[in-house]
Amino acid sequence: MDRFLIRGGRALSGDVKVSGAKNAALPILAAALMVPGKVRFENLPHLNDVTTMLQLLGRMGVEVLLDDTGSVELDASTLNSVIAPYDLVRTMRASIVVLGPLLARAHQAEVSLPGGCAIGTRPVNLHVKALERLGVEFEVTDGYIKGRAPVGLVGGKVLFEKITVTGTENVLMAAVLAKGESIIENAAREPEVANLADCLVALGAKIDGIGTDTLRIEGVNALHSGRHRIIPDRIEAGTFLVAAAATTGSCTLIEVEPKHMDATLLKLEEAGARIERSGTTVSLDMRGNRAKAVDITTVEYPGFATDMQAQFVALNSVAEGSGRVTETIFENRMMHIPEMQRMGAEIDLYGSTASTVGVNQLKGAPVMSTDLRASASLILAGLVAKGETIVDRIYHIDRGYERIEEKLSNLGAEIIRLPN
Ligand code: UD1
Repeated sequence: MDRFLIRGGRALSGDVKVSGAKNAALPILAAALMVPGKVRFENLPHLNDVTTMLQLLGRMGVEVLLDDTGSVELDASTLNSVIAPYDLVRTMRASIVVLGPLLARAHQAEVSLPGGCAIGTRPVNLHVKALERLGVEFEVTDGYIKGRAPVGLVGGKVLFEKITVTGTENVLMAAVLAKGESIIENAAREPEVANLADCLVALGAKIDGIGTDTLRIEGVNALHSGRHRIIPDRIEAGTFLVAAAATTGSCTLIEVEPKHMDATLLKLEEAGARIERSGTTVSLDMRGNRAKAVDITTVEYPGFATDMQAQFVALNSVAEGSGRVTETIFENRMMHIPEMQRMGAEIDLYGSTASTVGVNQLKGAPVMSTDLRASASLILAGLVAKGETIVDRIYHIDRGYERIEEKLSNLGAEIIRLPN
């Protein structure tokens, strides 16, 4: 397993080009299953999760043509399987987003129960319940969720009792090819859901209320060929800003959508960063100052993202004063804390709240990644620590960050990949 060796203590500075959003790319790639023709998606990030999704589509008979400009052409007119097998799904929980598209196109689907990030139980009951409202019958056998819509999908009203991002995406995709009108209430408003909805519209879907918590879908008979661009990754972008902030440095993000990052930018301003937004760039400058600790509670978009929580715990651990970070979305998403404690961080974990008293400096140590964003936070901790940090199990990072070591090196960080 590859590891990162980091020698901390350098203030980062420079530009970073932000990649396409993983969490937009995955459902958008799955949407190709719904189209009996060619679709082209641009700004595809080069990530292990994206490769897994392309393999999954390939197993279902979809033709995949990647080019070196970061675009992909997919053709699902040759769709010949509705099975998402365990060997692929176990490496990526988000594989569940093929469920809605397969049901929409083929009226049946068999998806292995997902694995992926170890951040809580992460059930799919809400996906199932919502799709049942559109006429799907489910059974779970042999570790697979098997869905069938014997008379095809029919429009219906869905009210999510809890906001779910991939749940909203699954039912949205199913509703697009259902007969009649569907309404999805308490839908997730994440920009990645809106980007998927815009993509579906570009392929012929009829959707109103994009970006709001109520989506109205008028089912169409079929989708058609088309193209779509994936939005920039607001979580990758935020991670680089926190890296610059924690090291008292500066950083300019290129090709971002600043309005998707409001919650993160506000907290960074509160931490003492000077932030400038202009068109598709965002700049952060700490002017050599140590950050001030901030209080954070994760909530659904447009609130503070759970996917940025671990990075801010790293920032708080070396910031001036005390801060409280409370996780409300996932029940077991604080696995970075014991690792940071091993680096000298003063963190008290009580339930899902991490209370920190910032220390002047962390100390390098061997640490272990446990999930994608936890790994990112350990890299940040390594960047501010004195001495050497080895971050193990970085396959988690490769799932969601494109060439992170190269981008950080360009900002002046000392980080190298140790292949195993
Ligand atoms: C997506 C993101 C992930 C992010 C999360 C929350 C992708 C590929 N992943 O994950 O990076 O951290 O949103 O912003 O887009 N829940 C249920 N039953 C369900 C579904 C969800 O109880 O059927 C619960 C989950 O356990 C969790 C909460 O709802 O507590 C929110 O999860 P959800 O929004 O579904 O997360 P994902 O879509 O898996």
